[in-house]
Amino acid sequence: MKKVTTPEQVRKAINRAKEKGLSIGLVPTMGALHEGHESLVRMSLDETDFTAVSIFVNPVQFGPGEDLAAYPRSLDDDTLLLESLGVDLLFVPEVSSIYSGEEATEFLVKGLGDGLCGASRPGHFHGVLLVVTKLFNMVRPDIGFFGQKDAQQAVIIQRMVTDLDFPVRIRLGSTVRETDGLAMSSRNAYLDAGERKSAASLNGGLRLAFEKVKGGERDADVIREIIRGSMESGGFDVDYCEVVSGMDLKRLERLEGTVLLAAAGRLGKTRLIDNISMRITGDSVTEIVLEFPEWSRYEWE
Ligand code: PAF
Repeated sequence: MKKVTTPEQVRKAINRAKEKGLSIGLVPTMGALHEGHESLVRMSLDETDFTAVSIFVNPVQFGPGEDLAAYPRSLDDDTLLLESLGVDLLFVPEVSSIYSGEEATEFLVKGLGDGLCGASRPGHFHGVLLVVTKLFNMVRPDIGFFGQKDAQQAVIIQRMVTDLDFPVRIRLGSTVRETDGLAMSSRNAYLDAGERKSAASLNGGLRLAFEKVKGGERDADVIREIIRGSMESGGFDVDYCEVVSGMDLKRLERLEGTVLLAAAGRLGKTRLIDNISMRITGDSVTEIVLEFPEWSRYEWE
């Protein structure tokens, strides 16, 4: 595995891979890698010839008072893991090699970025899209791999990719969970023992709601209340419990088509998110990982 720290080094390594005709996969991360990241890396290794992973705690996607300084960092362990998985290129830039500090471009994805996490984290998706754009332009991947756990992020990235004609396919990996259902997340490291136990009520509520949908419930208000009830009894300070379309994230009154049950809340200082997505056709309800059609007008040169 080659480890590089500057965009120039990335471009050189990618140029060499492209000259050999290799397809490129990119797994962008903020480090503190867990099995969720590992599964994305494995997908990239399976589906492309050359896998690049970036580790960059992107300051622009953190708001004032958020956990930028405390965000867990474990670069040595992450490097060993990626090496053992067979990653080709690891990119670990400094903030100054990603940002000039004079960026004036703002990303606004109308509608998609306003609700859910966008409502409580103003500017967050601008920061995500800014860094993802920069990484796409450096790495020029054929496929970018992201986690289903951050479903809103994925839908927004796909919208940007389509709108701006990035020749990148977006693929999502399913959420990897602890045995009690808690979605793996770098932020789980913040939880103390009591909070860790309570954290299962987030997925617990989503699962309970999903079972109700499987049993025929289609009223979104009922579903929202089931999720909220479970989270509140687990001690969560609920940020949102939502039932939205998995296509355009619009709030639903009745469940049909591609549906996302999404929730976020705080346990102490830790903000956790999770979701379940499903396809509903008549009486049939199937849990899915969101998928985006392969569509591009261009190829990277
Ligand atoms: O999902 C994440 O870890 C981050 O938002 C991403 C996509 C790496 C951008 O910083």
